[in-house]
Parts: sequence; C-alpha cells; structure tokens
Amino acid sequence: MKDYLNKLPKEILDLIYLARDIAAESGMRVYLVGGFVRDLILGVNNLDLDIVAETDGIAFAEKFAHALKAKLIRHRRFGTATVMHRPHLKIDFATARKEFYPAPGHLPVVESGTLKDDHFRRDFTINAMAIDITAGNFGKLMDFYGGTNDLKNKSIRILHDLSFLDDPTRILRAIRFEARYNFHIEPNTLKKMKEAIRIKMLDQVEPQRVRDDLILMLKEKRPLKEIARMKELTGFSFINPKLKVSNRVIGFLKALEKEIVWFEKSQPLRRQIDSWLIYFLGIIDDCSLNVSQEICRKFVFKKGEEKRIIAYKRIGKNFVLRLSKKGLKPSFIFSMLEPISYEVILALKAKHKNSELQKHISDFFEIYNGMKICVSGEDLHGLGLKPGPHYQKIFAAVLNAKLNGAVKNREQELDLIIQKLKEKR
Ligand code: CTP
Repeated sequence: MKDYLNKLPKEILDLIYLARDIAAESGMRVYLVGGFVRDLILGVNNLDLDIVAETDGIAFAEKFAHALKAKLIRHRRFGTATVMHRPHLKIDFATARKEFYPAPGHLPVVESGTLKDDHFRRDFTINAMAIDITAGNFGKLMDFYGGTNDLKNKSIRILHDLSFLDDPTRILRAIRFEARYNFHIEPNTLKKMKEAIRIKMLDQVEPQRVRDDLILMLKEKRPLKEIARMKELTGFSFINPKLKVSNRVIGFLKALEKEIVWFEKSQPLRRQIDSWLIYFLGIIDDCSLNVSQEICRKFVFKKGEEKRIIAYKRIGKNFVLRLSKKGLKPSFIFSMLEPISYEVILALKAKHKNSELQKHISDFFEIYNGMKICVSGEDLHGLGLKPGPHYQKIFAAVLNAKLNGAVKNREQELDLIIQKLKEKR
C-alpha cells in the first residue's frame, strides 16, 4: 500500500503524514477508510479523505484542524467532524464504531468499536477497507471482508444479508457504483436488493436521505445508465406513488443530456449548471404542477431548487408560442429568458423542437446574455442626473437598444441617453 500512497499528490500525502504524527502524539490508531481507499486502489482521483480513529475521532479532528489552522465543522448527531482544507479538499473524521439499527431504515444507534466492527456496518466490501496510517504500521492495508478481491472482480457485494434493510439508501448507492465503475452487483447482493425493493424499503427512509442519494446519482457524469437501471430495478414510485418513467420520458432524458453537453461545450465561461436538476425535471416530466409541488414538499428541496422545478412546471403553452414566433426582437427574447434559470431554459430547449425557439435560446446564450453596456453611473452623473432608481431604467433602455443593434459603442449609448433626456423635457 505504501506504493499507492506515494503516488498521491504531495498536498494529500502531507495531510496523511500530519495525521500520522498527531496519531503518534495522542496514542490513537488512525486509518484512511471508505471511498478514498477504494479509489486509491482503482487509481481514480479522489480528494475526499475519510479518516477513522480508534477511540475518539472528534478529539483527533480537533487536533488536526488546530495544526492546519483550518475550520472544523462538527456533526454532533453522528459523532463525526469535517475539516475543509482549501476549497477543494475535504477531510472527514469519525470514531470507529459499531451500529445497531433500532428499526429498518431508521438511523442507527452508535457505540464505539474496533476497526473491524466499523467495517462490518458499511455498505459494500469495496468500501470497507482501510489503510493504517499509525506510525509503525504506516501503509498497511486492512481488508477484513474481501474488498480487494471484489475490486479485482468488479463486484459490488454487501457485508451481510440485512444490509439493504438496515439502510435502504444503499439500493441507490449500489446502482451508482455499478454504473460509475462498470462493475456488477453480485447475485446474492442483487437478490437481497430486490427483496428490499419488493417490500418498498425506500419508502421507509426519511425522504431527505433518499433525496441526497438520488441527487448524488444524478450528479454522476452522464447518469442515463443509472436512470435506466433504476427504471429496471426500483422504478420511481419512491419519488411519488404514481410516477412512472415511460420510454417517452427516457427519450426526453436523452434530449436533456444533449442540451447539457451542448451547454458545457459551447458555454464554458458561464456559471456551472446544476445538471442533476435538469435530469430530475426529466424524471418527473409526466407529473402535473400539483404532484411536482407535492414531491418538492416531500423531499424538502432547497428554496432555489424548488423554485426552478416549479418554474419549469408553470411555463405554459402561451410562453412557448410567443418564443417560437419568427422575427422577434432580441430585446424581447432577452426579456423573456433573462428571468428564467439556465436549467429551465435548457429543459425548454430539449422539450420544444421548434426551430425558431431553438435559435432564440441559442442566441440568448451565445449573444444576448452577457452583453454589456459601456455607460456607467458616473456618465449619468456627468450628464447632471441625480442617482436614483431611474438609473436602472436608463441602463435597461440602453441595453435593449444595444441588443437590437440600435447602438454599438459608448458614443452611441451616450447619444441615445441625451436624446431620451431631451424628449422628456
Ligand atoms: N457508507 C455506508 N453506507 C452508506 C453511506 C456510506 O456504509 N449509506 C460508508 C462507506 O464505507 C463509504 C463511506 O461511508 O465508503 C463514505 O461515504 P460517502 O462519502 O458517501 O461515499 P464514498 O464511498 O466516498 O463515495 P463517493 O465516491 O461517491 O463519494
């Protein structure tokens, strides 16, 4: 394992050495665990360090954060903590623990335990390996349940038969890892998974937990494979009892993916879109506004997420017709699309194949959105105008003129303002 560790970027290796040194000072045994170890063996980049300490993970995290002068976020309910080191490096800490599930799908009762106990409570063997980073044992792989072998055989395997009943969100995780690494769910795991699906275990879980795993799934790169596997294995009634994803919807999801790819390639400088939300709009495409509202309430989406989902559902035929007309002025197209989120606009582009609408949306992204005017508040002040809300109105009028090609440079913008002021007098 030492060889694997040595291949890591220096920045990560330094953090691991720091953990080793703090472990030595505090007399704790400390391990790298979870997805980080899985991806290290697979040779996949993973910047989320997951550290487990035998005895007291939080005390260890406190020392680690102190040494790094980094912020520590404690999750008291779970006895875990996270250190954010630079924007892209996350380090999670936990105490090695045993878990008992008081009832299927409920959160576990937790007790401290050994590393072996800690691994037995995990989802799959490929996620249940550790690398000891305690001095003296540094770099030793701890694989109690055959994770290395399963990685070699590309197998997703639960550690015990009750795994999906203990935590039904593992159904979604299995599908996610299967598609991500092109692995297979081994027969007994698939059997237990299907049993849990048959008795609707996903309905027993707190909806927010299902939502989080569903979002993680939709955040995978091009998740159509995952969605198709969901359709085959679980269906989508856990989102809403009436929800079915028909073959037509699968076709729509493909069209959505095309638009996402188009946006990512042609608009590299724009803000990143929440592509998961666009796929979600696809999945619930057959749901009415009312049902979509129910789903948003059930899953407690963030305000901004719910707003975009509902905005898409509220767009009526009239809006689409107006945007599909020939000869529209750029300023009109801008006024229609500017208040709408990118995610909703892309979904509209995937849904309505009218060539005018397609062109208007492309023009919006490629030309209109992001067009800047040259005049500033200082210019208006220079023209003797006192600052106030009318400044915004003037800027909007100049922008409209610029969108329509009526003004092209700073002089023409200023001329337009002067002319408008004269007309007002
Ligand atoms: N885990 C689990 N059961 C879950 C969620 C997580 O057993 N329902 C365990 C697994 O050992 C997993 C680890 O917690 O490896 C960390 O979880 P998480 O960060 O969610 O997943 P990763 O395995 O790191 O996957 P990803 O690469 O998607 O982040």
